[in-house]
Amino acid sequence: MNEQQSLLFPDFSKKEEISPELKEHVMGLRRQIQDHDQRYYNHAAPAISDYQYDQLYSELLGLERAHPSLCTEDSPTQRLLERAEGFQRASHRVPMQSLENTYSEDEVRHFIKRLEKLLPEEKISFTIEPKIDGVAISLLYEHGVLVRGLTRGDGSRGDDVTANIKMISTIPKKLEGPLPSLLEVRGEIYLSKKKFLQLNAQREEVGLTLFANPRNAAAGSLKQLDPEIVKERHLEAIFYGFGALEGITLRTQVELIKQLKDWGLPTHRSIQYASSEEEVLEAIKCLGNVREDYTFQTDGAVIKVNLLNQRQRLGSTSKAPRWAIAFKYRAQEAQTRLLGITIQVGRSGILTPVAELEPVSLAGSKISRATLHNQEEIKRRDFRVGDYVLIEKAGEVIPVVTAVCYEKRSGQEKEFQMPTICPSCHQPVVQYEGEVALRCINEHCPQQLQRRIEYFASRQAMNIAGLGEALVAQLLKCGLLRSVADLYVLRSEQLLSLERFGEKSATNLLRSIDQSRSRPLWRLLVALGIPHIGRRAAQKLAGEFSTLDKIMTASLQELTAVEEIGEMMAQSIHHYFSQPGVKKMIEQLRQLGVQFGEIDPHLLSSEGLLEGTLWVITGTLSQPRDKVVAAIRSAGGKVNSSISSRTTYLLTGENPGSKLLQAQKLGVSILKEEMFSQMLQEQRESSYFRINQCSTAVRSCSNHHDAQ
Ligand code: IVH
Repeated sequence: MNEQQSLLFPDFSKKEEISPELKEHVMGLRRQIQDHDQRYYNHAAPAISDYQYDQLYSELLGLERAHPSLCTEDSPTQRLLERAEGFQRASHRVPMQSLENTYSEDEVRHFIKRLEKLLPEEKISFTIEPKIDGVAISLLYEHGVLVRGLTRGDGSRGDDVTANIKMISTIPKKLEGPLPSLLEVRGEIYLSKKKFLQLNAQREEVGLTLFANPRNAAAGSLKQLDPEIVKERHLEAIFYGFGALEGITLRTQVELIKQLKDWGLPTHRSIQYASSEEEVLEAIKCLGNVREDYTFQTDGAVIKVNLLNQRQRLGSTSKAPRWAIAFKYRAQEAQTRLLGITIQVGRSGILTPVAELEPVSLAGSKISRATLHNQEEIKRRDFRVGDYVLIEKAGEVIPVVTAVCYEKRSGQEKEFQMPTICPSCHQPVVQYEGEVALRCINEHCPQQLQRRIEYFASRQAMNIAGLGEALVAQLLKCGLLRSVADLYVLRSEQLLSLERFGEKSATNLLRSIDQSRSRPLWRLLVALGIPHIGRRAAQKLAGEFSTLDKIMTASLQELTAVEEIGEMMAQSIHHYFSQPGVKKMIEQLRQLGVQFGEIDPHLLSSEGLLEGTLWVITGTLSQPRDKVVAAIRSAGGKVNSSISSRTTYLLTGENPGSKLLQAQKLGVSILKEEMFSQMLQEQRESSYFRINQCSTAVRSCSNHHDAQ
């Protein structure tokens, strides 16, 4: 190994002794990273900033690189990109690598010094481009014709998302001009910041879970099995590199970008060029100042060697090329005061400490609270009441406390102790073995009950319109609710006795509660709040077992035999339904007419579902407009050509016209085409249950009659 190589390939051949402390430290890092991955990806609720996450990750990566025997397959550093279901896999011609990341200017200097060492006596120039926060993609063009689109996958093989890629209007199906015989072009698929906000607003309206950030939204969209949905999402793309390239020779990155543009591929409008370390750092700063103005989300700058010939000689490590590095910008931060720490009791009884902050503006919003995770985190970071702290937004959305300004301590700050009794019900709290969290295990605890009922009624669960946090609190306070089952015995006069509760609100709420009796089984499963069972798992379970009773009595083997239901979920289901309190509540819900059975889709009908609604359509729909009009009419709705205050819904397709603005002005509800199908489906399911519930009632009535 020569000196240059040894810089990049340390010799790991010697067997080494690993101390138990180091092993434990590495395991601890892994646990933390896995926990943060869970929070970020599965719950859209990060607890640390992106920077802090990257620090943990690179510490683990560094240790595993220095001690390769510590790097096992289950490490988060070895995590392959999540596979999308239902897509074929195919190989990249040239593997797709990732980039080394840094937050420090010094490391950028170091990167440049290392290149100068590897290419002595050569002049090296660079390009500086925005790092687009999207989903990496590789498109294959044969003689200028788009033949395939693959995600990165594990770097060697990706998911074939060609059908979805073809729905992205800015991606050409044919290239223009002098054509390469073969081109594997690399870039990023993204959702603009504006489209991301619109998509989440629509999802909120129909009760779907929200995407944590534009990147997740783009990834979720690209995984859709129905390309029509991809079309609706308005994904975009920017290309910046290539894998295989035949039939044409390029010399530099600058030339490549120009060529991509000439072929008709979307590229970023301004890449910067630098020929010295100082110019590189200047360009990074400059990009940092303008990046907020870009239509896409960007979290960094990518610095690349401009000459392709030099890149070839620099080569790459097993993960990343040596000729490029990503500089990541720290999120905007603000300093404020930690005024106090309050405790929130969640629906499963977990006590979460919450930072009460002196209100401060950060990246366009006022922040006064942020979760502090758990008592270990408070201790580890030594947060004290009265401290000045720094806050920033993780994933540029959720505020987190990132650091204490120790230098500002006066000595008056107070250490915080988690309570030993629940602040809501004053019962002692417990800590289960192997868990960090403290829990209140009193099933009658008012705050737990409040959260359970709120969750039960929420849009993602039973979707009971009008039953928000304040009303649940009011109903609990006056003793009208003691469990979720009590919702189904509420009477109009009870509601009218509440402060500021009118006739109309009471009627609407009772109607909404009544309608929730006939929600599909998966919604009920979500609403119960069984730990580890979210919407997807609930849908799988409902699809497989059809009734709640079958799920309640299924064995662990039967549960784990269901696709995507793992051991932990199965255990959780078993444990949940074994609790006497739960059994009692389920029986009450049954007695009160809540439906526990799934439906046969063939029996679903749209008849009368849209009775009394008035529709207007705008934009290009994914199916013939006549068909949509017929669907609305056959469900009892009326369709008009112009908007008025009587319009119930504006149904929008692609490129909506001026009607959209009129609807916004008049406050008419706006429904995207994909949401329309979903709404109709959910209403069909509900109405099926209502009808079925009536016929069951009639049946049981007549049986009773017969018996007499
Ligand atoms: S160049 C060998 N340029 O960021 C990989 N990547 O964190 C060369 N990315 O894997 C990639 N914008 O998916 C490059 N202007 C840009 C980029 C970019 C976003 C992504 C890409 C990469 C990841 C690294």
